[in-house]
Amino acid sequence: MKTVLAFVLFLHLLRFISCVLDRSQFPQSFLFGTATSSYQIEGAYLEGNKSLSNWDVFTHIPGKIKDGSNGDVADDHYHRYMQDIELMHQLGVNSYRFSISWSRVLPRGRFGEVNSEGIEFYDKLINALLLKGIQPFVTLNHYDIPQELEDRYGAWLNAQIQQDFGYFAEVCFKAFGDRVKYWSTFNEPNIMVTYGYLFGKYPPSHCSNPFGDCRSGDSALEPFIATHNVILSHATAAEIYRKKYQVKQGGKIGIVMCSSWYEPLRDTPTDNFAVQRALAFDTAWFLDPIIYGEYPPEMRQILGSRLPTFSLEDKKKLGNKLDFIGVNHYTTLYVKDCMFSQCESSTSLGEASVYITGEKDGHPIGHPTAMPSLYVVPYGMEKIIMYFKERYNNIPMFITENGYAQASNPNTSKRDILNDNGRVEYLKSYLASVNLAMKHGADVRGYFIWSLIDNFEWLYGYTLRFGIYYVDYNTLERTPKLSAMWYKQFLAGREKIL
Ligand code: NOJ
Repeated sequence: MKTVLAFVLFLHLLRFISCVLDRSQFPQSFLFGTATSSYQIEGAYLEGNKSLSNWDVFTHIPGKIKDGSNGDVADDHYHRYMQDIELMHQLGVNSYRFSISWSRVLPRGRFGEVNSEGIEFYDKLINALLLKGIQPFVTLNHYDIPQELEDRYGAWLNAQIQQDFGYFAEVCFKAFGDRVKYWSTFNEPNIMVTYGYLFGKYPPSHCSNPFGDCRSGDSALEPFIATHNVILSHATAAEIYRKKYQVKQGGKIGIVMCSSWYEPLRDTPTDNFAVQRALAFDTAWFLDPIIYGEYPPEMRQILGSRLPTFSLEDKKKLGNKLDFIGVNHYTTLYVKDCMFSQCESSTSLGEASVYITGEKDGHPIGHPTAMPSLYVVPYGMEKIIMYFKERYNNIPMFITENGYAQASNPNTSKRDILNDNGRVEYLKSYLASVNLAMKHGADVRGYFIWSLIDNFEWLYGYTLRFGIYYVDYNTLERTPKLSAMWYKQFLAGREKIL
């Protein structure tokens, strides 16, 4: 007996000193999953009494999407969800992150009835997941909103949306909260707001970047107003959850941010200072108010009274309204100061006075991927996690997205796409970086690969593939890529990362 024990101990010791990293180095309760969103996979855009969303309308405007495509059919997940759950079951994941289409559940927002067919769809999805032991990790808003809210009152630019969002959230808590234990109010609102109101790329295509070349007469204040309404919408939903549902249902509520890491372009005090501004104008813009009740000082110093303020009542509503941060991390970029030094090109991130680039002296910061501005820089994962740990007192975090883009065009062969070695290496190195952050004390509780299946990639349509399952867009058949097989082995404890 003693010899057996000694041998087991020896094996553990060996594993420790040889830095072996596999599933066993993450806690048993750690959530491992895959992620998707409603518009990108569901299709069935006119079925089940669903109304048009802002993305349904936007993608049908010629010239908006690279390949002229849309999410009308997408992966037809609406009809094939059972098959997709089976794919997840095969992988051995214990969680699935997906979003609820607002226009499927409330086709007319607060101004009409709850759509029972919409509720029924998500009911069936959630029940089938749970039957397979897969925890639903649900996003309430992943960019798509009922178009009616845009037409009626200008959506995120109008404070009315706070009430609408609260109403939608409550309908979801009531209908699904007995089974859903993880809620995210928003997915990447920092992207939704900057692309929708600053750069004019996402609906409603408003463009107000004061330094850019897109001047359409939209007020430069729009991104700040939209963000203010998103933050207070989050607070409204979280308050409803805290007061009426959380104790009874025992779930958690958070928000998911696009969380890039930034490195100084040059090792100068001004570029290092610019990195702090970039981080503040990117994620702290939303997280500071939700956690501390105030916009980041780095922003207030630059924007002064052009940044909205929170009333006492707002602040009360904002306090203690976050159980976790959802971290979508893909890339690291260089930041150059444009406040104390001259910048030849227009600044990125609005008024942060920074220029963001992926290259230094013609060399990329990491291996480029098929998506412009996404580079492979695994250490950035650890750094952004540690930044959140420090700034937000080690609030629990979930890596809600991490993934790798492959190009897809008529010349790329299915065989090449299936042999996605690049993705396998990417996922391994980023997971190792998550693990390192955890070893340095960060409270990370889950990791989701973007994405389960290839899907509609917003402005890029179907020209990029992020799935670990290949989707044939003619037959809609799903085929596992190498990365799916790797994930399965890893989750079964049969595959080492290091
Ligand atoms: C983050 C977004 O949440 C998701 O919708 C998108 O497809 C991925 N990034 C890849 O760009």
